[in-house]
Amino acid sequence: MTDEKIALVTGANKGIGYEIAAQLGALGWTVGVGARDTPRREGAVAQLREAGVDAFGVPLDVTDDQSVSAAARLLEERYGRLDALVNNAGITGGGPQQPTTVDLAIIRTVVETNVIGVIRVTNAMLPLLRRSASPRIVNMSSSVGSLTRQSGPDRETTTGPVAVAYSPSKTFLNAVTIQYVRELAGTGILINAACPGYVATDLNGFRGVRTPAQGAATAVRLATLPDGGPTGGFFEDDGVIPW
Ligand SMILES: NC(=O)c1ccc[n+]([C@@H]2O[C@H](COP(=O)([O-])OP(=O)(O)OC[C@H]3O[C@@H](n4cnc5c(N)ncnc54)[C@H](OP(=O)(O)O)[C@@H]3O)[C@@H](O)[C@H]2O)c1
Repeated sequence: MTDEKIALVTGANKGIGYEIAAQLGALGWTVGVGARDTPRREGAVAQLREAGVDAFGVPLDVTDDQSVSAAARLLEERYGRLDALVNNAGITGGGPQQPTTVDLAIIRTVVETNVIGVIRVTNAMLPLLRRSASPRIVNMSSSVGSLTRQSGPDRETTTGPVAVAYSPSKTFLNAVTIQYVRELAGTGILINAACPGYVATDLNGFRGVRTPAQGAATAVRLATLPDGGPTGGFFEDDGVIPW
């Protein structure tokens, strides 16, 4: 095994995912840019390579079984293993998301991408991760998925708007993360959830107050954890987020 480290970042063509790819690349990692749209993917890869990152494109729609299987085959053929999987791709589903009036189709769509998509990609990549000396999985969650913060006394300052699709999808993702941690205990795979903070991206019409680079930092830290590092946690810049 060489010192070369291979990462796959889903939804890496823009926003926080792009910055995660850029930061891992700056650390010397080889980075697979997982993205479903060919021009957007190729544009991101070209921009990363121009910045000196050893980036390559991975066609990947997290909601599509065949796309995800093909992505795993591409990595298998090219590298034979994966050292870090960053499940970053996500959607809000649009609005309005008031629980009493929501269009149920929005909930299904958001769960399909933000939760089932993560399970689909993770399971496809696990055989490759198991061949890494130090495998890591990072699930890009959000503090809006924290039930503690949604229901606590300071909820006005620590959570987003009422959103019965997006917020619970991240709570669901957190719960899924814990189940992986339980099943894969003892394998050396470190699995954690991350919140990037409120970041200016397409996801929120660029209303966020942090830069994508700031938002990428926690995920990059978790993707590059040393052996013996934490697993089964939910982290932001300031430390641990309560479930
Ligand atoms: N921005 C924030 O304040 C914030 C806060 C907390 C958590 N997060 C989380 O951070 C992650 C990244 O969000 P962002 O703010 O960077 O949003 P963004 O700029 O909208 O980027 C989202 C990325 O996910 C991709 N994506 C969506 N559906 C996909 C699918 N089915 N298959 C593959 N890729 C798909 C998008 O690809 P396309 O370009 O093809 O649509 C895009 O690359 C998300 O999981 C989000 O929930 C963001």
